Amino acid sequence: MSEAIPVPSKFAHLVLKTSRFKEQRKFYQDLLGARIVHEAPGIVFLSYDDEHHRLAIMERPGILPKLHNMAGVDHHAYTYDTLENLLITWQRMKADGHEPVWCVHHGGTISIYYQDRDKNVIETQVDVFNSVEETNEFLLGDDFQSNPIGVDFDPEDLWQRLEEGEAWETLKLRTPSGPRDPATIPRAYLGGFAWTMLQLRSRLR
Ligand SMILES: [Fe+2]
Repeated sequence: MSEAIPVPSKFAHLVLKTSRFKEQRKFYQDLLGARIVHEAPGIVFLSYDDEHHRLAIMERPGILPKLHNMAGVDHHAYTYDTLENLLITWQRMKADGHEPVWCVHHGGTISIYYQDRDKNVIETQVDVFNSVEETNEFLLGDDFQSNPIGVDFDPEDLWQRLEEGEAWETLKLRTPSGPRDPATIPRAYLGGFAWTMLQLRSRLR
């Protein structure tokens, strides 16, 4: 018998509980382009790939929206194959009235964050590097050490450059900006309480 500790073969799914069942179902179907795999009163299984369900939503009457000042999951993230697909999703969401809460080039990923109807935060992203090895190397380097938060960008600007035919090789570059104070992360992403606490900490330093 192998002495190696067994590890999961994959991350399987996420389950959300909500009292806004219909709104949440629509939001995630729209965001992920997901199909319904199973549906019964008060529960839906969604998937967008070969997994039987990646996301389930359960209706729980009386459940309150998430508060950003509670411990637990900060966000869940989904990778797109291309910048174009990330930005097409951004355009679709915008057309549906869902503006991002944060657009940031983390270095390893170009990321666009949204908030669902219960204030859960979802990251959509595209990998900047061609391999996990290259990303890991970047994460150990000086650029990421000096600014692990990222550099904000305007998706409108990125979309325009993409449409004008600019190559991925330059679109993917992060403008070097040096260290970044967490207090500069948008309030819409952090929530009012965390944002205020970070402002206070920043001023007291
Ligand atoms: Fe993330």
